[in-house]
Amino acid sequence: MIQNIETITQEVNDFIIENAEALELYRLKFLSRKGSISELFEVFKELPGIEKRDIGKPLNILKSLAEEKFNSHKEQFENTAVDLSAMVDTTLPVYQNELGSFHPLKIVENELVDIFNSLGFDLSEGPEIEDDHHNFGALNFAEDHPARDMQDTFFIGENVLRTHTSSVQIREMERHEPPFRLIMPGRVYRNEAVSSRSNCFFHQIEGLYVDKGVTFADLKQTLYYFVQQFFGEGTKIRFRSSYFPFTEPSAEMDIWAGTETEENKRLTKGTGWLEVLGCGMVHPNVLKACNIDPEVYTGFAFGMGMDRITMLKYGINDIRDLFVNDTRMLSQFKGV
Ligand code: DAH
Repeated sequence: MIQNIETITQEVNDFIIENAEALELYRLKFLSRKGSISELFEVFKELPGIEKRDIGKPLNILKSLAEEKFNSHKEQFENTAVDLSAMVDTTLPVYQNELGSFHPLKIVENELVDIFNSLGFDLSEGPEIEDDHHNFGALNFAEDHPARDMQDTFFIGENVLRTHTSSVQIREMERHEPPFRLIMPGRVYRNEAVSSRSNCFFHQIEGLYVDKGVTFADLKQTLYYFVQQFFGEGTKIRFRSSYFPFTEPSAEMDIWAGTETEENKRLTKGTGWLEVLGCGMVHPNVLKACNIDPEVYTGFAFGMGMDRITMLKYGINDIRDLFVNDTRMLSQFKGV
């Protein structure tokens, strides 16, 4: 018995209590009803009186030693049981909440829409599955006109996947009386299986302004303002005459990128000029097809590829990077 008391005294002294959990283990081991000290008392009870005399004192000393140790640590840990810092390892790295980002194409679309909104152009969108009338017929593409071959079209039965956002112009002109100023972004489709670098859909943004007395000068000034806002103050532009069945006269607009860097030379094929959009005065036949009197109203329109200017703006070299949804690329646009 004395031997046991000595062993347990040693155990009590050696037990390290460094937190609330250890304190509880200590209590269970020594002081609880099934703890080793209580067990000694059980044995003690059964001893003959004569032995009790010699054992009682050291046993009580052990008991108070164990209780003192318990009480002194109890105070220390009493409050820390609810103190999170005792349970949480504050040196671990924090959980990062992944922030999403807009796709670069959407960033550019929003910026373009904002610029034209500030000039009074309202946002409009149309369907991606179109009929021949809205995609071609009303836009003055004659049945057998070679211009219809300019665009390789996906057909869905009688309908087509729209090949350009110009179809939205027709829908709007059929619906409303002039005047209107509209900006119309959207996805368009062309059957371009010519190389692995090409993509069968891309994005355009279309502009339309129809009113009494709209002139080519209004078109030039509107596009000039847009270029200064989007590409930077002082960016030079030029217009080259062109052909589209739905505008007369028609033009293409270039911006001056310069020839200083190899990149500029590559992008501009050495000319310094970058082609940005097609535009022109709405053809009288288009107005007539939408029941708008070309003797009363005139208008201008323009259409621009958004993928290309997104690539220019952010230095993206392969158009496929815009469509594969690689989060390593997309995450670079957080907060833009
Ligand atoms: N729809 C033409 C295309 O897809 C772009 C375009 C050119 C739109 C001139 C226009 C315009 O509104 O006036 O290539």
